[in-house]
Amino acid sequence: MRAITLAVRLSFVLGVGLVAIRAADDDRPPEARYDTSGKATRDGIGKRYFGREIAHFMGHQGAGWLERPEREQEERTDLLLKELALRPGEHVADIGAGSGYFSWRMAKIVGETGRVYATDIQQEMLDILMRQMRKHGADKIVQPILGTVQDSGLPAASVDTIILVDVYHELDFPYEMTRSMIAALKPGGRLVLVEYRGEDPAVPIKPLHKMTAAQVKKELAVQPVTFERNIATLPRQHILIFRKNAP
Ligand SMILES: C[S@@+](CC[C@H](N)C(=O)[O-])C[C@H]1O[C@@H](n2cnc3c(N)ncnc32)[C@H](O)[C@@H]1O
Repeated sequence: MRAITLAVRLSFVLGVGLVAIRAADDDRPPEARYDTSGKATRDGIGKRYFGREIAHFMGHQGAGWLERPEREQEERTDLLLKELALRPGEHVADIGAGSGYFSWRMAKIVGETGRVYATDIQQEMLDILMRQMRKHGADKIVQPILGTVQDSGLPAASVDTIILVDVYHELDFPYEMTRSMIAALKPGGRLVLVEYRGEDPAVPIKPLHKMTAAQVKKELAVQPVTFERNIATLPRQHILIFRKNAP
């Protein structure tokens, strides 16, 4: 009987110890930790971050949708590029670049003295992307990078602007991935998140693939960036601009 009591006590102490070690190892603020206790919904991965269920990422089979001819009119992608106000010579990272819809267009703006890092987690997307870059004569300026779900794969402090168009809501590890992106920004660099407006029921996109500005700001508040502005000129998306804090 005594042996059983001792064993129970020991396992309790060890259990508590393990929980304590795990908490001490976790450098995320408590509110930024993942909740995997709920069920996955149809479009989500069953993992929640600040109460938001993370969406499944778009497979490379969806590349045709990204390149649809009506996209420019529907989303005013021309206006988005204008609002970014990229300069010749700028170093830009197109995270979750997909088929490269924005990569070659940004390459035309930053020119030969600039650079566009186009990252994705699917090699198939990068293969499609590089075919597009060659077709548009942008393959000398655009450099493909195969990242992981937690690491952008970008060199440290190397880029002026990071842009994610329709990507942030599908990051499997938003905390780690955002950390990694911010590490790749030069001091004072910009992090730009373009997301379908979750506040607007008229935007014809599945709910998990939209985000409200308030939710994005809440998630980014635990990162070393400062919210600068929300450009609200696009028909369907927010353009949310954050700036890297001084060290
Ligand atoms: C909806 S597509 C958007 C593609 C492109 N930004 C555009 O607007 O045309 C999202 C892309 O993000 C990629 N993605 C998802 N998680 C990623 C991550 N952690 N790092 C890099 N790419 C990621 C997916 O593989 C997919 O190609």
